[in-house]
Amino acid sequence: MAAAGKLTIDDLDVAGRRVLVRVDFNVPLEDGRVADDTRIRASLPTLRALLDRGAALVLVTHLGRPKGRVVEELRLDPVARRLAELLGREVRKVDDVTGPQARAAAAALEPGQVLLLENVRFDPREEKNDPDFARELAGLADLFVNDAFGTAHRAHASTEGVARFLPAAAGLLMAAEIAALSRLVNNPERPFWALVGGGKVADKLRVLERLVDRCDGLIIGGGMANTFLTAQGIDVGASRVEPDLFDAARAVMGRAGERGIPLLLPVDVVAADRFAEDAQTRVVPVEAIPAGWMALVVGPASLDAVDEAVRPARTVFWNGPFGVFEWPAFAEGTRRLAQVVAELDAWTVVGGGDSAAAVHQAGVADRIDHISTGGGASLEFVEGRPLPGVEALADTAGGAAARPG
Ligand code: 3PG
Repeated sequence: MAAAGKLTIDDLDVAGRRVLVRVDFNVPLEDGRVADDTRIRASLPTLRALLDRGAALVLVTHLGRPKGRVVEELRLDPVARRLAELLGREVRKVDDVTGPQARAAAAALEPGQVLLLENVRFDPREEKNDPDFARELAGLADLFVNDAFGTAHRAHASTEGVARFLPAAAGLLMAAEIAALSRLVNNPERPFWALVGGGKVADKLRVLERLVDRCDGLIIGGGMANTFLTAQGIDVGASRVEPDLFDAARAVMGRAGERGIPLLLPVDVVAADRFAEDAQTRVVPVEAIPAGWMALVVGPASLDAVDEAVRPARTVFWNGPFGVFEWPAFAEGTRRLAQVVAELDAWTVVGGGDSAAAVHQAGVADRIDHISTGGGASLEFVEGRPLPGVEALADTAGGAAARPG
């Protein structure tokens, strides 16, 4: 599979070699167990392909943000257990990253065996992209494969630095993510509609600025829509807004106007008298949010409008929930949005942890063409920013010209 001009595992001869594989096993843990193994499952094709071809694997990942210290709850033992179950073979886990245990275990690996290092962010040198640490990681193997798309926007020792010291290629998940997101950004079949939600404009401004220049229709929902509505002079009651971004919101709306593309904001919302799961709620037009109440989810008329607008789309990108969806009383809006996207006769891409969770909760994940395993990474890709973890991989002959555009 092609990966924007980068070598992939298909270009490597891995038989009898030790391969250091950067995976993104940043998964939620609950009571000492992996609560959602989606990211572990997503790495299996790469791991199986390498093992089938006679490699021994040294796996490295982060979990959470331990900030360079050992945090007992962020050890990877539950991850090793889940991976062993899914792979159907033993996974040896060590308690250090590049220390004596890790070095001895890596040196003893035979083809077909799998070793998982301890949480790489326990070492303060990881996030500093320290070259000595990168060299120590590289010393554990003969080849490097990066399959951690979700962490590709971080220039850390295990994502970027290590690629300077070993032949470095993309794994199958990394290649699939790059292929899908490149198609979305560079070559979407039109009409191309983007649905962007989430709590804060600040987190999505760059992606909105980019999409408004490229798509044929833009729909804004979720908490961030309140800033856009207020910037248009609508009183959204006690809803949270970002006054310092009113001008930026007006600029995005102005750009849509200049290009003559539709930009849809909510026309109604589920308003609540306070930010609580058991709050009193009322469906109201956006102009009629009662004083002191706040908009928590897009309303049914808005969802009807979305449904109608996106029907002709041939490509759809959705990032960010269209309101609070963690509480059952408010989950309906985002669930219905997931269904609308799933039913489209379009190529559909969902990016971001919350929207991915929403399509799974709605039971429609198998009807979405590409669900990105990256939150921040997929946004930065769509923003057009080079991802350090991808840039560091070796170019194919003539590949340097192929970049996320
Ligand atoms: C993610 O969950 O988005 C990735 O694993 C990156 O994690 P980070 O934001 O802590 O770098």
